[in-house]
Amino acid sequence: MDWNTIRDQFPATKKYIYLNAAGGSPVSVLAANAARQFYDEMEQEGDTLYEHWMNKTERVRERVAAFIHADPEEIAFTMNTSHGMNLVASIYSPQEGTVLTMEDEFPSSTLPWINKGYTVTFVESDKYTYPIEHIENHITPQTKFLVSSLVQYSTGFKQNARALGDLCKKHDLIFVLNVTQAIGVIPIDVREYNVDYLMFTGLKWPMAGYGTGVFYINKKMLRHINMPVAGWQSVHYPENMNNTELDLEYSGRAFEMGCPPFATIFALGAAFELLNSIGKQTIYERIMYLSRYFEAAIEQIGFTILSPQKADTSRSGITLIKHHEPDKTVEKLAQEGIIVSKRGSGIRVAFHIYNTEEDIDRLVQALKQTT
Ligand SMILES: Cc1ncc(COP(=O)(O)O)c(C=O)c1O
Repeated sequence: MDWNTIRDQFPATKKYIYLNAAGGSPVSVLAANAARQFYDEMEQEGDTLYEHWMNKTERVRERVAAFIHADPEEIAFTMNTSHGMNLVASIYSPQEGTVLTMEDEFPSSTLPWINKGYTVTFVESDKYTYPIEHIENHITPQTKFLVSSLVQYSTGFKQNARALGDLCKKHDLIFVLNVTQAIGVIPIDVREYNVDYLMFTGLKWPMAGYGTGVFYINKKMLRHINMPVAGWQSVHYPENMNNTELDLEYSGRAFEMGCPPFATIFALGAAFELLNSIGKQTIYERIMYLSRYFEAAIEQIGFTILSPQKADTSRSGITLIKHHEPDKTVEKLAQEGIIVSKRGSGIRVAFHIYNTEEDIDRLVQALKQTT
């Protein structure tokens, strides 16, 4: 794989040593062009291309579905992760049971449930990890939902999603998985995980920019739920514009309610096309390689890695290192054009396909000056 050619797809890498995919990646030229093209078309053609854009939206749906081993009917386009999580929390009610989640979760995983009045209990971490047996010990007869990120945003801990899915099956729990820090790095298979609901934003690892959320609903749930939202596009024949009867289409598309935000969907489509052209496994291996490369170099100069990623099974694209002055250092690095972020008492670094060993060497050199 020619990683330098791939890097050329990301002009931001000419200006920055960009190591912040966990915050937000730069978009590729391909993704930006896809959104631009839509605005050019609408500028020149008005709404005459509506059918064409609707068809194109369905092609993107198929591409996204295939990427996570889902069916297109199980996919809804959303604005962000929080949007998807709110949809799940709205399908059910607090009377149906309690939510079990992890104490390190990003608020998008927890606040939608708290807002709806659910009782949310938190599993405390064991040195930033969540062993399955530890989670199981927290399940009570009242527990109905298990909500977890596949990769924790601050520490980079990667959960064993298949084991979590098995646990949910064993205890008859609804399994809700936030894959925002995983999609685009870690190959995801909704069938293997036995997941009921899943959501992500395309801002981070898919490199698709803002407003590119995806919500997955397992088709076995589709016919049994109370639809929490509806609009003119949620029915079998929207073109009939029947405003008295709700002939709901039980599919992901029904959650979109009205006309789609074409520009962001096309950016997401182009972003997934790029990921597909490189290959999920190739991307995963490259990011793991860069993470190990960094780990070896940074440990050599005396830094401590806080991420629980000694075993490759819990490693993700995120590495958290301990630092005595994280705030000041992140700012200083930014002045040198090195983009990372502060998380807790550490500095979070995230490697992606647009990064090279030279980026890492520059970061390690710069960090050395801060000791
Ligand atoms: C695990 C996780 N979920 C969600 C988000 C962002 O939420 P949203 O897509 O709703 O803006 C982040 C951002 O850091 C995250 O790390």
